[in-house]
Amino acid sequence: MKYRIGKHLSELIFNSGIPEKISGNGLNLYIIDKNILTFYEKEINLLINGSPCYVFNAHEKNKCIEETQKIYRKLHNYKAIRESKLIGIGGGITTDITAYVASTYMRGCRLYLIPTTFVSMIDAAIGGKTGINLDSRKNNLGTFYPAERVYINPDFLKSLSKQELDQGWAECIKVALIKPSSLFKILLNNKKREISTDIIRKAIDIKAKLCRWDMEDKGKRRLLNLGHTFAHVLESISNYDIFHGNAVALGIRSAINLSLELGKLKVKEAVMINNLLDQYELPGSCDSDLSDSLINHGIDILLSDKKRSGNDEMLNLILLNKRNKAYLEKNINADKYLKILLQIMP
Ligand SMILES: NC(=O)c1ccc[n+]([C@@H]2O[C@H](COP(=O)([O-])OP(=O)(O)OC[C@H]3O[C@@H](n4cnc5c(N)ncnc54)[C@H](O)[C@@H]3O)[C@@H](O)[C@H]2O)c1
Repeated sequence: MKYRIGKHLSELIFNSGIPEKISGNGLNLYIIDKNILTFYEKEINLLINGSPCYVFNAHEKNKCIEETQKIYRKLHNYKAIRESKLIGIGGGITTDITAYVASTYMRGCRLYLIPTTFVSMIDAAIGGKTGINLDSRKNNLGTFYPAERVYINPDFLKSLSKQELDQGWAECIKVALIKPSSLFKILLNNKKREISTDIIRKAIDIKAKLCRWDMEDKGKRRLLNLGHTFAHVLESISNYDIFHGNAVALGIRSAINLSLELGKLKVKEAVMINNLLDQYELPGSCDSDLSDSLINHGIDILLSDKKRSGNDEMLNLILLNKRNKAYLEKNINADKYLKILLQIMP
């Protein structure tokens, strides 16, 4: 399966195991999530076959400049050149930092990714956004640099905790709402919440097509922000105690409430989407203790959001005008936003 993202061609390789070997001449440097090495040491050793590797402690605080410097130095010490491959194996934190380094070392070397979480398979490793954090500012430094190859092996998901799987379900439901596809119905009928290759493929397909002509997030790709502006506020006021996927699920519920209020979505469709989020055991409400913080800091957080519109007090937001059709609503007053968010804090 091949996708064009901007002028880049990305190849997606689906198989049931860890690729035994990544061939090719020249240096391969593997950046491996430490937890993956613990779970799959034998298979990973077979794959890397003595190639140099950097074992990465995949924590959000390590998606930082200091860690990139260690990887750059390693590349330099191994005399890496632009034709050398950087191969990231892990969740979104690992694929993001690997891709960032690959895009900047010698103005870009080759990049392969082996995502190992649900989030990274359907989201972080797809579409070409790379990123690292600048202190507490998430993904403040980044580039657009799609991987040449992405190996998707759902086998990795067997060792993932329910909490981590839930984060992926939130993103998966989000893409199913953005544009018409069979994914919504497949998710509705998936009562046992099993992650099939078909679900992964369909979620990737929707994201990749949105990024095809808009790698740099200036047009259609923005629809992928459904639920995310609300989610950023919730994450920020909770001091990042709330998991991203849970915040996205709550953000989708808020987007539904606002879409209903604006008369864009039918009640029947809103109920259907909320039921789907319930089916995947995603949260329906947020800790009411956060309401004071929301009232005191919410507007500032919203107005500092990097994706807001030009007008100072007005914001752009992705909403729904059908159960599977997202659109950009412009110029929403920040106060209205907060009122909607308060509805999920009973
Ligand atoms: N570039 C993008 O477009 C994009 C999109 C979405 C998210 N992201 C980024 O992705 C990151 C979140 O990614 P994530 O949710 O994959 O989290 P993650 O990378 O933190 O992984 C979650 C946890 O699961 C562990 N883990 C990884 N694979 C495992 C496996 N197969 N079995 C058991 N444990 C495993 C990790 O060590 C970690 O502790 C964030 O930094 C976010 O900014 C980027």
